[in-house]
Amino acid sequence: MRTLSRLKRLALEVPCMWRDGCCWNFSLRRLQSNMSMLKHLTSKITATGPISVAEYMREALTNPVSGYYVKNDMLGVDGDFITSPEISQIFGELLGVWCVSEWMAAGKSSELQLVELGPGRGSLTSDILRVFSQLKAVLGKVDLSVHLVEISPKLSQVQADCLTADQTQVFDGDDVPVYRSGTTNTGLPVYWYRQIDDVPRGFSVFIAHEFIDALPIHKFQRTEKGWREVMVDIDSEQPDKLRFVLSRGPTLASSTLIQDGEKRHHVEVCPDGGVIVQKLSNRITEDGGAALIADYGHDGTKTDTFRGFKGHQLHNVLEAPGTADLTADVDFSYLRKMTEGHVTCLGPITQQSFLKNMGIDTRLQILLRSCPDSSSRAQLMHGYDILMNPEKMGHRFHFFSVLSRSRLAAIKATLLPVAGFSELRLH
Ligand SMILES: C[S@@+](CC[C@H](N)C(=O)[O-])C[C@H]1O[C@@H](n2cnc3c(N)ncnc32)[C@H](O)[C@@H]1O
Repeated sequence: MRTLSRLKRLALEVPCMWRDGCCWNFSLRRLQSNMSMLKHLTSKITATGPISVAEYMREALTNPVSGYYVKNDMLGVDGDFITSPEISQIFGELLGVWCVSEWMAAGKSSELQLVELGPGRGSLTSDILRVFSQLKAVLGKVDLSVHLVEISPKLSQVQADCLTADQTQVFDGDDVPVYRSGTTNTGLPVYWYRQIDDVPRGFSVFIAHEFIDALPIHKFQRTEKGWREVMVDIDSEQPDKLRFVLSRGPTLASSTLIQDGEKRHHVEVCPDGGVIVQKLSNRITEDGGAALIADYGHDGTKTDTFRGFKGHQLHNVLEAPGTADLTADVDFSYLRKMTEGHVTCLGPITQQSFLKNMGIDTRLQILLRSCPDSSSRAQLMHGYDILMNPEKMGHRFHFFSVLSRSRLAAIKATLLPVAGFSELRLH
């Protein structure tokens, strides 16, 4: 039972922070510096002037040479933060049930592509695939395949280790759509891509857990002269440090990304997240399927959520770029808007409600019965508490789903609810 080994590591009293800023223990600090990234950014700013927060975030996280995601395995006790799939196997198992349920509700297509965006260590896909194996009889002869969209070569290796016992082939070249492929431990073909556009068309269930929050955001501030963009500049008094400044006038982003009637004084917009959701919507409309997006976020209410993590501690976002995770809350109202009404959106609903509706309590009881001793049971309960407690992940994380319009018609005709979303909010 993998929950136990994961929780045993957590039980070593090592501090662990999840990326919405909450921590349940205290800290190891890794001192690292990344002068080359800082140098790269200061040269860029010297040459062209202050850069947007989005450009700063893109460079710091995904620069092909020294980006944070490109060269690190940052997840888990020894990394910078921990996520739900790493806390308990129950999480991924319930998402596996959701995938099968939506495949059935959409008419049991003859093929099913499981597509995970930003799969981290591969744990979530691994837990979903275990459910697929257990539900073989339900899935019947469906043509199953696994597709992982991962920008990090380092993490793709970790995912390969987790899913295939490293039985993978790697293909060189930035222009090859599939840069790694193999066969999973359960005998399914698995492929790795750098971007969603390279995933083959076909009926797909898309999963994005803590993915959209890692995409670059633009930050804006309302001033007496109108909206201005928050930029990153070199600190004139300490040239080896960076600071935030406001753009002198409107920028292309401030002129195009602020919604009409915006009431807030400080706004963050993630256009890349919007583009991803548009692509998912188009695919779901044209090829069939569903998407489940889970992340910390809000429905168009929060203002300043940009933050950094390093060694399970909050970290100054402008310090030592490339050595720390950078993230911002997902604005689900923006994602919904970007689907332009072509699909049905459900949620956001809290993680606690979603997992409860998916039957986490029953699954917990089954696992508890198979626990060999009281310490294993205590660890299982500890994981459940972290996932479900409103003060921990229960109310901070939310689930949001994108479904085809025909699924909406089916919901109305049969009153067949979408698993996990009991209180339907159809948009
Ligand atoms: C915060 S981690 C979440 C990992 C995993 N989903 C989990 O919950 O444990 C973000 C993941 O997205 C990947 N990633 C970040 N930016 C990406 C991008 N632009 N394209 C593809 N993958 C990206 C990272 O390498 C990492 O696997």
